[in-house]
Amino acid sequence: MADAPVDTVASVPVAVVGAGPAGLMLAHRLGRAGVGTIVLDTRTRREIETTQRAGILEADVARDLVETGVSDRILRDGHEHEGTELRFGGRAHRIHFKALVGESVWLYPQTDVFIDLADARERDGGTVHFGVRDTEVLDITTDAPRVRYTAADGSRHEIRARYVVGADGSRSMCRDLVPEERRTRYGREYPFAWFGILAEAPMSAPELIYAHSEHGFALISQRTEAVQRMYFQCGPGESVDAWSDDRIWETLQARVAGEDGFRLKEGPVVEKTVLRFRSFVQEPMRWGSMVLAGDAAHTVPPTGARGLNLAMHDVKVLADVLLRALGREGGAALDAYQPRALQRVWRAQNFSYWMTRLLHTAPGASAFDLRRQLGELDNVVGTRAGRTYLSEQYTGWPASAQD
Ligand code: DHB
Repeated sequence: MADAPVDTVASVPVAVVGAGPAGLMLAHRLGRAGVGTIVLDTRTRREIETTQRAGILEADVARDLVETGVSDRILRDGHEHEGTELRFGGRAHRIHFKALVGESVWLYPQTDVFIDLADARERDGGTVHFGVRDTEVLDITTDAPRVRYTAADGSRHEIRARYVVGADGSRSMCRDLVPEERRTRYGREYPFAWFGILAEAPMSAPELIYAHSEHGFALISQRTEAVQRMYFQCGPGESVDAWSDDRIWETLQARVAGEDGFRLKEGPVVEKTVLRFRSFVQEPMRWGSMVLAGDAAHTVPPTGARGLNLAMHDVKVLADVLLRALGREGGAALDAYQPRALQRVWRAQNFSYWMTRLLHTAPGASAFDLRRQLGELDNVVGTRAGRTYLSEQYTGWPASAQD
């Protein structure tokens, strides 16, 4: 396969495997600096656009979308949230990010970030091939790596590049190319999953609600005035077919119920998915001429909305080091990538793990466990240090001087 004839051969400084937000934002940043890319994805554009993902962007990430010229749609269609609500013990506690740390977040679904990026690539004449198959990344231990693939129409192609970026998500095949004996995988599984729904209903609250209850966790988020996104903790093996609309609403209502009489506004459930999650990091993030970015190198549980933000930070650093590596500095410039990216990755791993443990009910939790958890939640909302800690982590960390 590696040397079988192909229909076309293209040369480009950087080939990118994966056209999610990480791959497309990297291509956008490189394109602005005059560096060409070809981006490939096995999924069609429509598949990516219609797969529900997270919804919260750090203010820095939102700013970068506008300031790098991707799109300013977020300023019109997104919603700035200056805080969030933690609910536990049947009561609401607002954490006011803006007052505590001077930052806010933006509710703007990842699917919209993807649409903006894909449109920007099209507008700027960037090359993105969706719906490809048989992708093979070759010769990454040389200075002339190649990527071969079959296009949607069945034709065969080869890309010759100086660098290949693996931005191919949490089921990355690129990360498997780092030899087994030279890579380390760190990870943790969780004994629960999230049941995610889209419902045609009015908004139940102006901001997000992260709810802890003895029955388990729930997250109340939003999409538009008329469509809401919500999640609740379920077993990892749960099947969506076992859940009628009535059962879903009963479960969600029980998890947010409280002495204030709060109730969610209900409506038809139009989509339901079980989302399994885990914590994962692979090191190294670079092997020869191949570099990993975003979920391909690390995944976090969704509690705390770090995943997309982390991927966007990776590619900001990666665009910078790739430009230097392709210029006078040469390949040594890439050595700075992993340490700069990993500092934030492990901070986010800790925060996502911490927030998951803070809010979920572990199967078999004892009365002691539940009360201890309420004590921890009370420490978070009831002390300025606790509220500030949560705000600082949730809104993203200030970029260090080198970023
Ligand atoms: C959403 C998802 C998250 O994991 C989160 O922490 C906040 C919001 C969402 O889909 O809106």
